[in-house]
Amino acid sequence: MVEPVIRVINLKKYFPVRAGLLDILRRKPRLYIRAVDGVTFDIYEKEVFCLAGESGCGKTTTGRTILRLIEPTDGKIFFKGEDVLNYTNEELKNFRRRAQIIFQDPYESLNPMMTVYSIVEEPLKVHKIGSKEERYDMVMRALEDVELKPPEDFIHRRPHELSGGQRQRVAIARALILNPEFIVADEPVSMLDMSIRAEILNLMLKLRDEHSLTYLFITHDLAVAKYICDRIAIMYLGKIVELGPAEEIIDNPLHPYTQALIAAVPTPDPEEKIGEIPIKGEVPSPINIPRGCRFHPRCIYARPECKVREPKPIEVSKGHYVACLLYE
Ligand SMILES: Nc1ncnc2c1ncn2[C@@H]1O[C@H](COP(=O)(O)OP(=O)(O)OP(=O)(O)O)[C@@H](O)[C@H]1O
Ligand SMILES: [Mg+2]
Repeated sequence: MVEPVIRVINLKKYFPVRAGLLDILRRKPRLYIRAVDGVTFDIYEKEVFCLAGESGCGKTTTGRTILRLIEPTDGKIFFKGEDVLNYTNEELKNFRRRAQIIFQDPYESLNPMMTVYSIVEEPLKVHKIGSKEERYDMVMRALEDVELKPPEDFIHRRPHELSGGQRQRVAIARALILNPEFIVADEPVSMLDMSIRAEILNLMLKLRDEHSLTYLFITHDLAVAKYICDRIAIMYLGKIVELGPAEEIIDNPLHPYTQALIAAVPTPDPEEKIGEIPIKGEVPSPINIPRGCRFHPRCIYARPECKVREPKPIEVSKGHYVACLLYE
């Protein structure tokens, strides 16, 4: 048995809704946003594992909770067999080096007042790694790794003096400099022009090979997911509704929600006829998640039992799981 790099078991994150004065006086029960409502998956070494789904389905919350940037409400998280939720302060500090995050908007995540050099060097200082000269060498190497060459041309610039793609390369260099084993990439190319996206995705794949990285890749864009990911998990209202090899999910989607998402992806080939699969209404609020199958109010195949019974994931073909009563 190969040990996964990341193992997540029944992870939950509920955010309390701030109650109004009247609600408190009327002693109304406290409400919760069930952002992540019981997700389970493994990510293996050098894998690009994708979390996909519409805005608000809980992708970012899942990623941040795994890194313990926010504390989970319930569930288990293991990193290479270690119980992340039971780390001592020292172990947690070490984990903060071994696991990194890259954000969607490098303009927001990079300090505009700092030079590229200080931005990339900063994590080394925080973790008290290397002498000044050693840090210099490491920064230059990290900038070369992300193909900002020659690095001397970039170290004195500030974020506003860079293009969007270059800024994201700096953000990646900053994550890379601590020699991490696992990276959460939260919509790393959504803010970039179409022409730059493939460059950054290819860079991430190159770095995965060269540095034996493992990625949790978050995106709402299934075309991006198909391009870069080995496996895809589709989230809906805090739960994974389908999970499997990327090609299987894109070419043979089983869950009505996945089918609708894929039907909505524009194809470059105008000849290719995409079957319009209608999807009813809007995403319900994560405060009032529908009973039974949480997708049933929007599902064109919903049967009476879908309103009362919550589907469990079943393995339909090797490694391809779907949580839908149509398949039980
Ligand atoms: N700190 C917070 N406090 C309260 N609610 C939150 C908090 N963070 C997220 N939420 C809520 O949790 C739900 C899931 O949010 P999350 O950001 O994880 O979704 P997402 O899938 O990453 O969406 P997007 O594609 O828009 O980034 C949303 O309803 C969101 O409003
Ligand atoms: Mg998000």
